[in-house]
Amino acid sequence: MTHAMKTGSLTFDTVESGTGLDAALAGTGAEVLRTIKSSGLRGRGGAGFPTSLKWKLAAEAEGDRKYVVCNADEGEPGTFKDRVILADHADLIFEGMTIAAWVIGARYGIVYLRAEYTYLRPHLEAVLARQREQKLLGENISGKKGFSFDIQIRMGAGSYVCGEETALIESLEGQRGEPRNRPPVPIDTGYLDHPTIVNNVETFAWVVCIMAKGAKWFSSFGTEKSTGHKLFSVSGDCDRPGVYEFPLGISVAELLDEVGGQEAKAVQVGGAAGLCVPESQFDRTIAYEDIPTGGSIIVFGPDRDMLDVAENFLEFFIDESCGQCTPCREGVPKLLEGVNMLKRGECSMAYLEELCSLGETLQLASKCGLGQMAPNAFLSIVEHFQDEILGRTAG
Ligand SMILES: Cc1cc2nc3c(=O)[nH]c(=O)nc-3n(C[C@H](O)[C@H](O)[C@H](O)COP(=O)(O)O)c2cc1C
Ligand code: SF4
Repeated sequence: MTHAMKTGSLTFDTVESGTGLDAALAGTGAEVLRTIKSSGLRGRGGAGFPTSLKWKLAAEAEGDRKYVVCNADEGEPGTFKDRVILADHADLIFEGMTIAAWVIGARYGIVYLRAEYTYLRPHLEAVLARQREQKLLGENISGKKGFSFDIQIRMGAGSYVCGEETALIESLEGQRGEPRNRPPVPIDTGYLDHPTIVNNVETFAWVVCIMAKGAKWFSSFGTEKSTGHKLFSVSGDCDRPGVYEFPLGISVAELLDEVGGQEAKAVQVGGAAGLCVPESQFDRTIAYEDIPTGGSIIVFGPDRDMLDVAENFLEFFIDESCGQCTPCREGVPKLLEGVNMLKRGECSMAYLEELCSLGETLQLASKCGLGQMAPNAFLSIVEHFQDEILGRTAG
């Protein structure tokens, strides 16, 4: 079933710069929306929100100043596929943002670039300059009178939670990078209170491919609810780590075959915030209707201690929590304390059950995705690796 393509032979290599935008500008914004809707494209940043719906709502939002924001924060542990797109296919990202501007009626675009990718900034600026020269950005784009759009690059400062779109907007505004209450949502009240769409790097690049190759071509891959191909960043205990392109709907086992990870005892799908999938569930599929992911795949070989894995992820969330809400600020350290008690043989079965219930509370009561997803790995490790965990409880 799989058509694996490693870095160097991605679909993005096969699309000529400018062709997606030409196709978009040949029709109205409404026609572009119909094409994206029929392709079934869902956001590649993790949550899988339908791209056409986000853009439609932004197009309908009241406001004479709208923004297109590209989320290039790529902070999820184990994710590095956006780096490849930024390095090799920045033209497609900017072109996808320009198509979005055409659809929603935006004049301004911003790329929010992860601080660790500062070294990519000169390259990105050079691509932007070239696109301005080619009239793919600026005033009257591609000779289309009245269609003007330009993009600036703004730097993140190394905070994971700033990848969450409302924290990202706060950060762009010069505030502390803390998630906002919802509603209002960015499509109504985003950057500087103007209607704003935030999309992942990869989402914009796929929009160009869809406009260039057609919605049917895109939806001929993947599953009914998760169409198309997706980029995956594969790391950990496998023979061939790297960036891969697979159709959504690929099973964990098929993916492991492709990357040389057949020995794995578990796979973390979706990064620290994702799910830890045990061997008994390797027939499950990576798709929004089964195991969703922004693209991070971390393979754990037979010798890994799953409590070390849980400890590592929980430490990450404690470091990255913005501290704004109590469940996340106070709850995640309790989970970490519990893991350390387990390691020392000091955690009773009853306390482990309390910790699981605390984890479920965090999923429900935390204000943003960070706290809601922070217990995922802990809970799935306790559920699926009972032989490793229960033997270490006290009494
Ligand atoms: C804690 C946290 C971190 C996130 N980090 C990123 C990120 O680095 N890149 C990204 O595209 N989306 C990230 N997201 C998801 C964004 O909030 C948003 O859903 C996404 O940028 C929307 O783009 P898409 O619809 O194209 O996927 C993060 C969400 C949370 C809760
Ligand atoms: S869940 Fe965590 S990161 Fe999100 S707002 Fe609350 S404290 Fe901040």
